[in-house]
Amino acid sequence: MEQLKRQRIYDLLKTDSTDLLGKHINVKGWVRTKRGNKNVAFIALNDGSIIHNIQLVVDVQEFNDDELLRKITTGSCISVIGKLVESQGKGQNVEIIVSEIELFGTADPDTYPLQKKGHSLEFLREIAHLRPRTNTFGAVFRIRHALAFAIHKYFNDHGFYYLHTPIITGSDAEGAGAMFHVTTMDLNNIPKTEEGKIDYEQDFFGKETNLTVSGQLEGELGALALSNIYTFGPTFRAENSNTSRHLAEFWMIEPEMAFYDIHDNQDLAEDFLKYLIKYVLENCNDDLEFLQKMYDNELIERLKFVTENTFERLSYTRAIEILEQSGQKFEYHVKWGVDLQSEHERYLVEKHFRKPVILTDYPREIKAFYMKVNDDGKTVRAMDVLFPKIGEIIGGSQREENYDTLLGRIREMNIPEKDVWWYLETRKFGTAPHSGFGLGFERLMLFITGMGNIRDVIPFPRTPQNAEF
Ligand code: 4AD
Ligand code: MG
Repeated sequence: MEQLKRQRIYDLLKTDSTDLLGKHINVKGWVRTKRGNKNVAFIALNDGSIIHNIQLVVDVQEFNDDELLRKITTGSCISVIGKLVESQGKGQNVEIIVSEIELFGTADPDTYPLQKKGHSLEFLREIAHLRPRTNTFGAVFRIRHALAFAIHKYFNDHGFYYLHTPIITGSDAEGAGAMFHVTTMDLNNIPKTEEGKIDYEQDFFGKETNLTVSGQLEGELGALALSNIYTFGPTFRAENSNTSRHLAEFWMIEPEMAFYDIHDNQDLAEDFLKYLIKYVLENCNDDLEFLQKMYDNELIERLKFVTENTFERLSYTRAIEILEQSGQKFEYHVKWGVDLQSEHERYLVEKHFRKPVILTDYPREIKAFYMKVNDDGKTVRAMDVLFPKIGEIIGGSQREENYDTLLGRIREMNIPEKDVWWYLETRKFGTAPHSGFGLGFERLMLFITGMGNIRDVIPFPRTPQNAEF
């Protein structure tokens, strides 16, 4: 085969490729469909760089290799050389008149699972190793990339430093859910102390460790030195919640800012979310249009709506009043002091205000130890951002910067001081008002792609009883 630089299908279809018209070029990719007759074959080729396929046209007589053409079926991988020409047919601007084909890999039509279009998302989850080759998952993963890039760009452009916080930690940042233990101990022969307890001193780190539930505590250490930092990494929660919005391994973005109060924190969260949604609207139009057509015909309208409207800000206490007066029958009863369920959050967002909502000042009993206690002594300076169809997308707060108050909270919540002494020390040496929040990356992906299940917006979802791929 002639040696030519491979052209990405994205570049051929998306950018002005007129300088290549009439020239011989090389493309490589996976066959989506092949149709035609004994005179001409049309092959739709996709290389994942863009949702669209490029059409390959083969003059069967001239090509004169029926044997090779027969082996080219849906799913097979080929390298093609041919002349780029303006398309005769509808639906594409350019196509390739094929002169040479190299077959990299066949895909037996009797066993290749993606033979036909229209598989259910549930079925595709069972073939997570192949689903990236579908239009849906190509679109979702390209958007995921764009969103990750936009997150780094936003923070970089706003003077935040990316701080890498550890995955393995010795502390429990949230004090809420169950954690995954990290150990190299022989589970069939666990070393015990004289009192019969597990002897973690003999474990790899010489102490009990787990996968992090949040990078926040370490993020605060960074903010109290670099002013504005963010983390963006995997986060782990071992709670057994089998919902369409929970993963055992998810990605979280956590900015942390010295000298920000709860209002600055809300301003940042709103600006950040709007920026990210706008970025995807401006840069992922083909993929969004595909998802809108296939799954959610109000998708683009909803995204625009969020970027154009001010989020509603109110206190938890006010939200409870609204819910109590709503006359709505909820599965979980609401009264002051309870944690809001997603049915409550979605009522506020979708029915009452009809736009994103930021709730603040939650009861101290239902929130984490690090949140700043308000003067009323009953509430903390928490904030949750609630989105249509999702419920909570961001959780954050102003942090308790007073040493004595924080120590009191740690004792009140039975958090072992030996695990967080270093965190406490930041309040002893040059403490400062500061705030931050955590954005669930996959929750945002759900909102932006319009997909209904969080398992479909991460390449290899980790949920209870599921870690196959
Ligand atoms: O509200 P959470 O638990 O807050 C924290 O972890 C804080 N330390 C964040 C901070 O202030 N730096 O989690 C933050 C967000 C949630 O709002 C949600 O979007 C997402 O993380 N999240 C999950 N996403 C997927 N699966 C799960 N199991 C999630 N748990 C939380
Ligand atoms: Mg939360």
